[in-house]
Amino acid sequence: MNTYTNVKDLGDLHRAVQEALEVKRDRFAYQHLGRNKTLLMVFFNSSLRTRLSTQKAGMNLGMNTIVLDVNQGAWKLETERGVVMDGDKSEHLLEAIPVMGSYCDIIGVRSFAGLKDKAFDYEETILNQFIRYSGKPVFSMEAATGHPLQAFADLITIEEHKRTARPKVVMTWAPHPRALPQAVPNSFADFMNEADVDFVITHPKGYELDERFVRGARVEYDQMKALEGADFVYAKNWSAYRDPHYGQILSTDRNWTVDERHMAVTNNAFFMHCLPVRRNMIVTDEVIESPQSLVIPEAANREISAEVVLKRMLTPNP
Ligand code: CP
Repeated sequence: MNTYTNVKDLGDLHRAVQEALEVKRDRFAYQHLGRNKTLLMVFFNSSLRTRLSTQKAGMNLGMNTIVLDVNQGAWKLETERGVVMDGDKSEHLLEAIPVMGSYCDIIGVRSFAGLKDKAFDYEETILNQFIRYSGKPVFSMEAATGHPLQAFADLITIEEHKRTARPKVVMTWAPHPRALPQAVPNSFADFMNEADVDFVITHPKGYELDERFVRGARVEYDQMKALEGADFVYAKNWSAYRDPHYGQILSTDRNWTVDERHMAVTNNAFFMHCLPVRRNMIVTDEVIESPQSLVIPEAANREISAEVVLKRMLTPNP
């Protein structure tokens, strides 16, 4: 595996989940693969789970890890070509990337959508520059349009907790005070469309996601109707995708906050969220603290999804 940016990079998804469960049973079984190899994790944005779980995954595989927080202690980087660099940015990404590549064997990149320039975001300009110029395998640690390590961990968690062969999984928009990217819901939709689940998306009108990720999945604008009989409720906020409102907040309606009233119409559903979560905006204290909440095991599975991706990147191509 040379890149990991979306569900397709995993190939057979059922096989990938089985591999994840096998890795979870003995996460130190592949230490030989990472011996004398270096993982570089480059963060343009903050992180708790991705930083810790991916570093842990690398250590499980015997790797050395280096973490670079681009906005803390590194030179300020210019990302656009053709810019006269007479401002506060001292280095161009086009030199910085191959230099970073020279110090490591695999690179993980976190670079969120700016939510100002839709084309720049949806072309995955920064992630693709790493893929093109680093000379090393590159994986997304949440880029502008996707968070495939999170969605893979979500699928592993669903597989571990499902009570029927084909569970109903409902992804619901929920309110948030700040404009957030569409990366997590895009990737979750991408994975659920490939998985053996009954997938439903619910959100207020105006929050339609990119059809390349929705791929014809059922969209139900009535949240309560969507949640009826759900086995898993996956809550997430995102800002508007469609023009002319790209990156904007269109609603902060707290009727969409997942509470006990919503969970009561489900099939005793499990509650999921990628974290960090704003309590009593996205979900109430009662729901996130209930026995049906999977947010902690879901976060713990981030170590496993990262380990499968790194293991595959370290394994010589057959
Ligand atoms: N879910 C997730 O990616 O968490 P962090 O932003 O803390 O890494």
